[in-house]
Parts: sequence; C-alpha cells; structure tokens
Amino acid sequence: MTSSTLTITPVSEHVGAEVSGVDLANLDDAALQTIVDAWGEYGVLFFRDQALTSPQHIAFAERIAPIDVNKFFTPVDGYPQIAEVRKEPDQDVNIGGGWHTDHSYDPAPARGSILLAREVPPEGGDTKFMSVGAAYDGLPDDLKKTISTLRANHSNAHIFGPESKHAKEVGHRLQNPDHVGGTTHPLVIAHPQTGRKMLYVNAAFVTGIVGWSEDDSNELLATLYEHLVRPEYSYQFSWEVGSIAMWDNLATWHWALNDYHGHRRLMHRITVEGVELSAAA
Ligand code: SIN
Repeated sequence: MTSSTLTITPVSEHVGAEVSGVDLANLDDAALQTIVDAWGEYGVLFFRDQALTSPQHIAFAERIAPIDVNKFFTPVDGYPQIAEVRKEPDQDVNIGGGWHTDHSYDPAPARGSILLAREVPPEGGDTKFMSVGAAYDGLPDDLKKTISTLRANHSNAHIFGPESKHAKEVGHRLQNPDHVGGTTHPLVIAHPQTGRKMLYVNAAFVTGIVGWSEDDSNELLATLYEHLVRPEYSYQFSWEVGSIAMWDNLATWHWALNDYHGHRRLMHRITVEGVELSAAA
C-alpha cells in the first residue's frame, strides 16, 4: 500500500480526519509516516473496513510505538497486549462513559490508543472526541497566564481502586483493581510530536491542582472543563465492525456514549507508550 493511494479528509473544524485508500495490515513506510504525521495534525484518525486479525492489530500498533499494556482491563484471549472494551446486554455501566483521556495517571502517559470495533450495537455506541489543543487556543489570555505554571494531580484510585463505585460495577471485567497510583503533570504541556500547547487536565483522573485548596482547585477545574466541552471542539464518530479510531491521548479527550442498553458492544484496544510530559514554554 503506497501513500499515493491514501486520502486524508478532515471530519470537523478542530479534531479528527478519516483516512481512506489504506490497508493497515499492508502499509509501506511512506504510508505509515503519512499516518503518523496526520495523527499529530488531527488528534484522531478514523479508518473503515480494516479486517485486522489480533496479530495484525498488534503489528500495526508496534510500528507506531511500543505497546503500553493496560493494567486493569481484561485482555483478549491469547493476546495480553490487547484490552477488551466490552459491554454486555445485561450490563448498565460501560468503560469510558465520560470525557477522559487514557492513562493520564501514569508518569509517562500512553501516547495513544488504537481501538478496533469487533461487535457494535444496531444503534448508538458512538464515541465523541475533542481537541484539547483547540480548547487551549480558545482560552482567554488571563486564564492562559494563570494556568501556565500549574500542575495537576492525576490518580486512578477512585476509578480502579477496590472501593470505587466504578470498580464495583464493572469489577468483574477489570483486573488488578488494587494496582492503583498517580502522578502530577503540567496543566499546559508541549505536545512531544508537534510542540503544540495542549490543555492537559481531565475530569476522570485529575483530583486537584498541586498546592491549591480543594475549593480553589475545584473552581478552576470547573471553569476549564466547562470551556473544554464546548461543542465546537468535538466530533462524534459512528462505528461499524472493522472501524478503527487511532487517537492521541495528549491531544484529545474521548467519551464512549452509553446509549445502547440491551446490546453487546465489543472493541479491542491497544494503547501505545508515550513519554514524560514537559510544560509548554
Ligand atoms: C475508551 O475509553 O478507551 C473506550 C472508548 C470506546 O469504547 O469508544
């Protein structure tokens, strides 16, 4: 597959592009580089009709970066590198059912995730993606100045810890519920691939601003979250079996909509390694 057959079409003003004319199981190096460049530019890439086997899914991910094996989700049988994102017809709570970005509680958070749809409900089950770079650009200057030197605490204990509501509800499908931890990151990071400034906080894993009182911290985070969720920064993707979304955890948030009760939705997710994050200058 050469890059000359590959077409990249933006899907919204600020986030996402659909890549067509490509077979991810059979990519030459030029096509791969085009995809990596587009990933940096658009934050999330969508591919259709990719009938990848699990070994092909793993091989594609390993050409992007080493795999960052998820510590909590049930792996696909025989493939510990692939996490199942599964919701059964009898289950109420889904995985990723609120705005977040994956693994932000790690000192070197996973750079991205490559999610492949295996079973989709007849309707619903879309995923929303949002650009945290566009959201940063849209902040007022005084707020940009306020947050420029701040760091946030990120933790997974309230999600994956043994006492968390989430772990109790979906616990039978998560592993290592006591493998919890956290770290701090700058609120405004320089993206390691593009250098673009990104607003790196998320409501799922951020527990407060380092050195701030709980009240002040909550007030600032609420202001930032209200801004981040403005509809112009986001795009909603509808899945078919064989669709892939490859998102950049440093450039986007995502949210798996939970609107298909009574049906199974099964996705295979591979998460790839990132680096320790630097504050934007
Ligand atoms: C996730 O949060 O990684 C899952 C996204 C999805 O299932 O659409």
